[in-house]
Amino acid sequence: MKSVMKSVITGSGIGIPKNVVTNDKLARIMDTSDEWIRARSGIEQRYYADPGQSSSDLGVIAAEGALQAAGRTHDDIDALIFATMSPDYFFPGNGPVVQAKMGFREALPTFDIRQQCSGFLYGLDLADSLIRSGKYARVLLIGGDVHTPFMPWKNGWDTTIGLEDREVTDEERERNTNIRDRVVLFGDGAGAVVVEAMNDGDRGFLTSKLYTNGSGIEALYTRGVGFRLRPFVTHQQIDDGDIIPDMDGREVFRQALSKMPEAVRTVCASAGLSVPDIDVLLIHQANMRIIDGVAKQLGLGPDRVPHNIERYANTTAGTLPILYHECVTDGRIKPGMLVCFTALGSGLHWGAALYRA
Ligand code: ACO
Repeated sequence: MKSVMKSVITGSGIGIPKNVVTNDKLARIMDTSDEWIRARSGIEQRYYADPGQSSSDLGVIAAEGALQAAGRTHDDIDALIFATMSPDYFFPGNGPVVQAKMGFREALPTFDIRQQCSGFLYGLDLADSLIRSGKYARVLLIGGDVHTPFMPWKNGWDTTIGLEDREVTDEERERNTNIRDRVVLFGDGAGAVVVEAMNDGDRGFLTSKLYTNGSGIEALYTRGVGFRLRPFVTHQQIDDGDIIPDMDGREVFRQALSKMPEAVRTVCASAGLSVPDIDVLLIHQANMRIIDGVAKQLGLGPDRVPHNIERYANTTAGTLPILYHECVTDGRIKPGMLVCFTALGSGLHWGAALYRA
């Protein structure tokens, strides 16, 4: 039987900062506990970037690893996509930053996309579409975020990465506690993959289903800083904490539990497959209870639903490529396996994609 050209992941890599921040370190500066964070989210620790270490820095480390794993040089890459909600600059995006840092030639189109926690999933679909169009044969896709700059980074935050060693005042503790429902969930990290046009039997992307519902924007968004405002940022917004994301945790939780299983079922049906055909389901790592709930609804056992949220927390656009990389590296994803990626996040954006490894 004649095989068809598909988009195949030929290499992956990750970029993780060095600072391990345990739940106990956060409990030192706010009213929370290791017990609460583990029970409500499954998170045991996360990594924080060093001051000055950005999403592009982590992305570059991940990208170099992915190129090496794919056996490709910079000149082999036809296009670059960077998915992040935390670019180095308000504009431009991380595409040109990475092009310069990695020393790519000028004749390299770079695409910057957002879609927050669904950023990598959307990036996979874009990479696959660019390749299937016949215009580009090899695409480097990077997904990653640094959440630490969202955090107030005063009130004793330096103690989390060992730059300071002191007890916080009652007032500082209270301020940090006001944002505890969000900050404990996030960490910094990036992953990258090289996606190539290949004619290799069944290997490659099968199909994807992507969704958007903007009526849910306020479930998870940043109220301050935006061009609907005049001026787009004020001292007042900063003082009022409007630059820290707002999150209706219960609403996001509810949406994640209903939309991701639905997207997985739909994408399987559109490929003429069924959910039990999935060998490995890679779910965006936002909360262990969401991961368990989605797996349960789909009837997939823990052996088919890997997770690493306990070590990294939610790295937004980084979770799926980091998890994919770990599963390929330790053999949980083997050639021939049917892999399903699914995510839901701010926007709301969500969806699922099927890939034959
Ligand atoms: N430590 C201790 N107590 C806390 C903490 C904390 N870090 N955070 C909240 N609490 C308290 C609350 O104040 C509340 O106290 P009260 O009952 O006295 O008012 C209590 O714990 C229970 O709070 P709930 O909000 O009911 O806790 P819930 O079980 O819903 O868990 C959580 C909260 C973890 C945020 C959960 O709703 C969740 O994970 N939602 C999904 C969030 C998510 O996935 N976000 C990322 C989306 S992806 C993206 O696009 C970036």
